[in-house]
Amino acid sequence: MTRTGDNRPPHAATTPSRAATAPSASGSVRPFRRLWIALWLSSLGHWLSVAALTAMAGVLTSGDDVASRAQAVGAVLVLMILPVVLLAPLAGPIASGLDRRLTMTVADSLRFALILSVPLVDALPWTLAAAFVVSCVTVLWIPVIGSSVPALAAAAHGDSHGDVRPGDARAAAHGDGDDDDQADVARRSARRAAYGSAPVAAALFAVLGLFADDLLGQDDRADLALYVTAVVFLAAAAAVSALRELPTTGPVSVPAPLKLIAQGLRPADARGLTVAVVVASLTASAVVSVAQVHARALGGGDAGYGSVLLGLSVGLAFGVFLGPRVLVPLSRRRLLGLAVIAAALVLIVVALVQNLVVAAFAAGFLGVAAGAAWSNGSALTGLGERAFAYLRSVALVTALIVCAAVPAVAALLGDRTLSFGDADYDLRSTNAALLIAAVLALVPGAVAFRWLDDRRGIPLVLDVAAAVRGETYTPREQAAEPAAAPVVRERGVFIAFEGGEGAGKTTQARLAAIWLRDHGYDVVSTQEPGATKIGMRLRAMLLDRDTTGLTSRAETLLYAADRADHVGNVIRPAMERGAIVVSDRYVDSSLAYQGFGREQSVSEIAKLNEWATGGLVPDLTVLLEVRPETGLGRLPSPADRIESEPEEFHERVRQGFRALAEAEPERYLVLDAGRPPAEITREIQYRIREILPDPIPAGTEDVTSTFPAITDA
Ligand code: TYD
Repeated sequence: MTRTGDNRPPHAATTPSRAATAPSASGSVRPFRRLWIALWLSSLGHWLSVAALTAMAGVLTSGDDVASRAQAVGAVLVLMILPVVLLAPLAGPIASGLDRRLTMTVADSLRFALILSVPLVDALPWTLAAAFVVSCVTVLWIPVIGSSVPALAAAAHGDSHGDVRPGDARAAAHGDGDDDDQADVARRSARRAAYGSAPVAAALFAVLGLFADDLLGQDDRADLALYVTAVVFLAAAAAVSALRELPTTGPVSVPAPLKLIAQGLRPADARGLTVAVVVASLTASAVVSVAQVHARALGGGDAGYGSVLLGLSVGLAFGVFLGPRVLVPLSRRRLLGLAVIAAALVLIVVALVQNLVVAAFAAGFLGVAAGAAWSNGSALTGLGERAFAYLRSVALVTALIVCAAVPAVAALLGDRTLSFGDADYDLRSTNAALLIAAVLALVPGAVAFRWLDDRRGIPLVLDVAAAVRGETYTPREQAAEPAAAPVVRERGVFIAFEGGEGAGKTTQARLAAIWLRDHGYDVVSTQEPGATKIGMRLRAMLLDRDTTGLTSRAETLLYAADRADHVGNVIRPAMERGAIVVSDRYVDSSLAYQGFGREQSVSEIAKLNEWATGGLVPDLTVLLEVRPETGLGRLPSPADRIESEPEEFHERVRQGFRALAEAEPERYLVLDAGRPPAEITREIQYRIREILPDPIPAGTEDVTSTFPAITDA
């Protein structure tokens, strides 16, 4: 299996918990540090070029004609986003055939020349053309850097251990354990550079706006920013050309945004998530699309424009970082819904205020809300790379449409003055366009909140107030209610827990069973292999390290035999009497271990197990994701026969589980086992509530009373 994660371009953000932990280990290796500097400079140049080219387009449009200025700025933004949406899928294959170091040097040199030419040519059409070509070059550059960063990190890491040559980088970057970790770490660090440079670029642009006045005179403000941008690209080119060798991970594919959107997202909450991401992107892009014209209308020049961009980008960074960390006891779905509504409400403030400083701060708050929405939204998709790429595409296409539409609406509306008795209010075209965008965002924001809300009936204010106190709100009458007699239904519910070694699923399966029992359900807690008498004998054969020479096929059949006995004697009878069955491992373990791990046909094993179980499929499978080296390190007792398999085996198992979950996302809840256990427990309880025929009332997630009592088996 190939790791889809390797294909994610460095511009793609990751869940903040991962991004935030980018280490410095890889930065300490010299070639990697050089590449990182080049990447940082290129990204800085990229963000600076967005600000400087839009500013230049504004300057080059005739005088005070707000309508044409807004449209010129919008056109630059559209021309810069368009290649990312349309050309990204072509870039991967093109980049794969090129020399990486040369391509990067040429790309940065080209961007240097193009940006430099803009103030020299000094014409709007050329500015627009340059913006488009600069962005095309950036699109080609993304997969090149995307494949070089992890490979170089892995090679450098191997060098420092004296066991991997740079030529082995491809294998190392796709490989396991330490090298894979290094590559992942490097990728996260690269992403931080790609996004972290945005606020720096905005600050630099604002400062240049202040000095441009004195240095070059009023009309040439954007010139200074463009010259500096050109120099930054030149420095990036120099940094890349200083690298002697640039190993790569081989072909890189960047998924096509439009195709991803057309294919859609399958989990049950896809529509709520999609609308939430649309709203978050809409609010942030609306601000960017008219910020240049708006800042000018409020009496600021490029320094003012830069301040609004700075407020927004710092806010976004904060929001992405804080999103998963604030109000932890509150349902993440509720928080996501709240965040997008907040972003839309703050956009109203940005639209109405007539003071640039206040507008810049408001843009910052909007950024926090939109960033928090983004990080919580992408976290809800589990760890699926496809789902992540889908959400990113939705955000991009929304930005494209907004950057075309909002300036056009502003141009259409024109400036006007509203009179309220004696008082006049200047409703500028940008005020009005932002206000319309805010109202348009508010409606779907509220819809997204409703669709995402998994605690209906629980008053939001009480829920948030409890979360602020660090608690989960529990309605009084439910808290006081004694456990009722077991609830009996015609057909039970089947929940399986899956994951690699040491993922903590045994603990979580037990906690889920206790929680359900506490709420009056008839729960059967079971596990594989070895839940029955025969099963225990099979288990001994399967896991005893003295069992040698067992063929993979025989192993598969023994697990299937255990499962057939388990289903026939334990699971089915329990289901028939309407109980909830919570099983620690089920069929997916055989698909992952005997299929992916032992490299046997997964479809044949699936058929065998379908026969063994009579086609019984869980209603929900909770997959706890853990890196083999982390999970195996957590195991308390001496390793059994399967645990003692090499790390490559366990990595294949991990990838297998992941592929199974990605193929059938509605049935899975994928959780990062590295998250705090109480958080994992709560997420599992939220999800289980959704599949119960007689749902446990919302607000009864309880982890504190049961959690400390249990340790992993
Ligand atoms: P167990 O001691 O139950 O540990 P764990 O907490 O990891 O579940 O061991 C079960 C082992 O059997 C585990 O290493 C995974 C393996 N296994 C398979 O290889 N195939 C299967 O179908 C099942 C159910 C388990």
